[in-house]
Amino acid sequence: MCKDELKEVLSPTIIQERIQALGRQITLDYAGRSLVLVGVLKGAFIFLADLCRAIDLPIQVDFVRMASYGSKQESSGRISFTKDIELDIKGKDVLVVEDIIDTGHTIKYLKEVLTLHQPASVRICCLIDKHERREVAIQADYVGFEVKHGFLVGYGLDFAEDYRCLPGVFHLNPGHRPKAFQPSDR
Ligand code: IMP
Ligand code: MG
Repeated sequence: MCKDELKEVLSPTIIQERIQALGRQITLDYAGRSLVLVGVLKGAFIFLADLCRAIDLPIQVDFVRMASYGSKQESSGRISFTKDIELDIKGKDVLVVEDIIDTGHTIKYLKEVLTLHQPASVRICCLIDKHERREVAIQADYVGFEVKHGFLVGYGLDFAEDYRCLPGVFHLNPGHRPKAFQPSDR
């Protein structure tokens, strides 16, 4: 990894402060209830780990894994499940925890599938909302940060499986980015 390929966008401190605020808000909104957090693997694993400890409610955790970008790192709008939920969410309040909402295809599909299990509610919490690239009508209920441009890595986010364990979020500079994010930062 050469240093000039990464530019910090969200510092570890900023991320942690925002997550504490999200946790307080979620705790208030679901007061007196319990929650099932459904993390979207792999990108949300670090965010979920921090978020679940910022929420002061009884919590159960499950994960799904979806393939939307495949190996080409481009959003095709074609989604497949490679790991389904394992908990019974019927009648439960479900909060989906996602790293980034980009075109929105992944989260829209996931919400539709989870709804088939007849939960009491399904809401969405994402660390980063790239709403300018949205292709389908879907809005997160809780948003950590809005970021307009570029391809992001770190804090769980990867490019070709690299960079996930960086403590902050970084722009991956042009030249190092996947094709869909070159050259104009759509
Ligand atoms: P969507 O279906 O286009 O909303 O795709 C969302 C998924 O694409 C996210 O869960 C990420 O896994 C991935 N993704 C989108 N933008 C980025 C990025 O900037 N960095 C890393 N992954 C991204
Ligand atoms: Mg993801």
